[in-house]
Amino acid sequence: MRFYLITAIATLIILLTVLSFRQNVWQTNALPYDDEQLGLDDQITINFSHVVAENTPKGLAADKFAQLVKEKSQGKINVQVYPNGILYNDENELAALKNGAIQMIAPTISKMTEALPSWQVLDLPFLFENEDQIYAALHGKLSKNLLAELSTINVHGLSFWNNGFKQIASKIEPIQTVEQFQGLTVRVMPSDLLVQQFNLLGAQPISTTFNDLYKKIQNNEILAQENTLSNLYSKGFYKMQPQITLSNHGLLAYGILMNEDFWQSLDESSQNVITQSLKEMERWQHEQAVALNKINLQQLQDNPNVTFHSLSELQRDQWAKTLQPIYQFYENIGNPQFLTQLYKDIEKTNGNF
Ligand code: SIN
Repeated sequence: MRFYLITAIATLIILLTVLSFRQNVWQTNALPYDDEQLGLDDQITINFSHVVAENTPKGLAADKFAQLVKEKSQGKINVQVYPNGILYNDENELAALKNGAIQMIAPTISKMTEALPSWQVLDLPFLFENEDQIYAALHGKLSKNLLAELSTINVHGLSFWNNGFKQIASKIEPIQTVEQFQGLTVRVMPSDLLVQQFNLLGAQPISTTFNDLYKKIQNNEILAQENTLSNLYSKGFYKMQPQITLSNHGLLAYGILMNEDFWQSLDESSQNVITQSLKEMERWQHEQAVALNKINLQQLQDNPNVTFHSLSELQRDQWAKTLQPIYQFYENIGNPQFLTQLYKDIEKTNGNF
């Protein structure tokens, strides 16, 4: 009897010991050593939401920014990028940024103009003759003034990124003359100035989010759009709108924005990591956008279903003349000093203004 009792107690002790090891009862460290989890409590996460594909000027720039920030902060700051509108779309990303659901967004300048009408200066048609002028506008004195305006809506402005020149893509016929715009349903981003642009051309502008655009083209609600080659290519819009006019008539660029309270909560060295990363990648980002649009042009030219068209000098003059009143429109709704500043920034690149 005594033998059985001792055996039972010994078995119970062995069982409890094995179980406690399996449950890590004796382990003093909460987490095993893991480089990825080092300083997990101290890690800062920046959730960065945007609406385009990863292989686009904005998608590539967001990833590059994340990589630079990780390196410069030695893993302390983690930028988590959410592309393709998987978190938020054009219509709700600014609200999500402001209420702190996410920390960073990069909307097109046009999509900020409802809140900041003066930003429409960069929506004006036929402003830029080449990419150097675009770079000067996005990183010169005007850009500082535009970023400063964000404080009026309690958003922290960090920088601007380029996508490139907008072209016209059309479903049925190529668009070259002003007459061909008559009654044409054209998608616009939410900007009064862009609506006015297509009103002046006699078209029917329809404001639509990027994420809804494909469906509306499919349903024939929208026959044409203005967009960059990288967006036309990466979203497959060219499959439904294969008549592309290389008009280079306007700019598509992005404001790089952060939640103001989040920015204020960062210590100085984290703020420096963010600003230095963006500064360091300015030239790279611009050149990457130019290069990608060129690659996409080649890919589209290689596609037998896509047809390219250009504007003759006469046709270009006809567009510009028809759109001339839009400059007065901007002066009435925007900030005329911004336009003067823009000309000065462009002038520095030997532009002819
Ligand atoms: C983007 O490049 O972020 C989207 C542009 C668009 O709405 O067409």
